[in-house]
Amino acid sequence: MKKKPKIPEKTIIICIGSECRHKGNKELIDNIKKTIKEQHLKDVCSIVKTHCMGRCKFAPIVSVQPDNLWLYDISQKEIKIKVEKAILSPNTDSLL
Ligand code: FES
Repeated sequence: MKKKPKIPEKTIIICIGSECRHKGNKELIDNIKKTIKEQHLKDVCSIVKTHCMGRCKFAPIVSVQPDNLWLYDISQKEIKIKVEKAILSPNTDSLL
């Protein structure tokens, strides 16, 4: 019998299409990975890099699921703060 894959509680989808990469999403990945490691959330949270999500004019685009939290057109500093709150909190209603 095959072992089941670990399903994370939260998935952070980060666009690394050219416009989002230009606005700092590639560096954001390193920052979020560092936070996940420091907070021992490796089994709870995963990062998925994706190509252009078709919303370039709102770049940089980041989404946290299953919270349906979409972050766009804000600074990398603000994105990092909101993503950290989302992965450290079970409920993101207060973030919106
Ligand atoms: S490059 Fe990110 S939405 Fe297009």
